[in-house]
Parts: sequence; C-alpha cells; structure tokens
Amino acid sequence: MSSNQKPLLHRIVRKDHPAIAFTLDGVPCEGRTGDTLLSAILNRTDSLRRTEFTGEPRAGFCQMGACQDCWVMTETGERLRACTTPLVPGMRIVTKLGSVA
Ligand code: FES
Repeated sequence: MSSNQKPLLHRIVRKDHPAIAFTLDGVPCEGRTGDTLLSAILNRTDSLRRTEFTGEPRAGFCQMGACQDCWVMTETGERLRACTTPLVPGMRIVTKLGSVA
C-alpha cells in the first residue's frame, strides 16, 4: 500500500462506530464496527490487490461474494474474500507479495 493512494470509498455512515485496529501491508489502520474487510480497506486506499494476470488494480465487483474479485491474504497466508469477511480487531492483511513489514 502506498501512502499517497487516495481512498476509493468515503465513509458517509458509521463514522462514530467503535474503531477496529488492523494492519494493511504492515501499516496500522482503523476501520469501524460493522465494516467488511473490503469497506475497511477501500476507506484507506484505492484497491484491494493487483491481478496476477495483468497487474491491474482490483477493488471487487459484485460486493456479494459471487465474482471472486476481492481476495486478499493475511500475513500468514490465509485467503479471505474481502466483501464477505467482517473486519476483526488485529487482522493483518496484505494486498501484495512482499508487503509484510
Ligand atoms: S466483490 Fe465479488 S466476491 Fe467480493
């Protein structure tokens, strides 16, 4: 994750819900109670990952668990579908290989 990336999503609700700490590519981040991984990540940056075929940025498509476009990984290698996975405190998510601090 680059620090100059602008968020793709902008929070208009749940602004005052309790914060949930997680890391994204080794960078401490904060989501909100009720966020999915997808909403928490895209409130921080502009993509979830790069496609392994062309390197183009991907940010999910269907938002309902059907398209398989939103896979991210934990630092331990677990694959998670970002749009259907609730954000949990302490999650350590990586969006690209070699991004673990
Ligand atoms: S955005 Fe389609 S499966 Fe997650």
